[in-house]
Amino acid sequence: MDYVIFGLIAYLLGSIPTGLIVGKVGYKKDIRNHGSGNLGATNTFRVLGFKAGIIVTVVDILKGTLAAALPVLFGADHVYPLAVGIFAVIGHMFPIFAKFKGGKAVATSAGVILGVNPFLFLIMIATFLVILYLSKYVSLASMLTGIVTIIVTIIQRELGLFIVTSILTIFVIYRHTANIKRIINKTEPKIKWM
Ligand code: G3P
Repeated sequence: MDYVIFGLIAYLLGSIPTGLIVGKVGYKKDIRNHGSGNLGATNTFRVLGFKAGIIVTVVDILKGTLAAALPVLFGADHVYPLAVGIFAVIGHMFPIFAKFKGGKAVATSAGVILGVNPFLFLIMIATFLVILYLSKYVSLASMLTGIVTIIVTIIQRELGLFIVTSILTIFVIYRHTANIKRIINKTEPKIKWM
């Protein structure tokens, strides 16, 4: 029963459409009608600029972190935080507050990992920045970071983290299907500021 309650709270938390709120409230713009149309941090940077992008990145990460921390905050030691975190990522991808069309699972997944293993989160950030610097593709950096994270959990022999990072990386890759096609066709936009 606790899993249902925590899972539901995590889903609702993940469903908060940060990019939509920041765009509409601060800029009178719906980012779903601009750029890639994705309701995520990257498209917020693209459409609304640096300040809005940073806000959405941080809040989307914290949605995952807070969801994973819920069992600890409520003293429910028997509930596995990573499993709860997955529901925040599902909420982020399919938000009930934005007609079930949300982001691509990247920032909120990273936030879930931050909530349970900050060291692994730092490895993820470093991996992401290196791949982004080399490729200039945010989407490629996002997907490869997921794969590197899985490899790290294998090296660390962390079975729970391995299972959850594998699930989250499958989410991330599945949500990047259109990006993968654009990378192959060489039409995926590269970032210009790095
Ligand atoms: O975090 C999502 C990113 O990897 C790709 O976003 O807007 O370029 O499809 P976008």
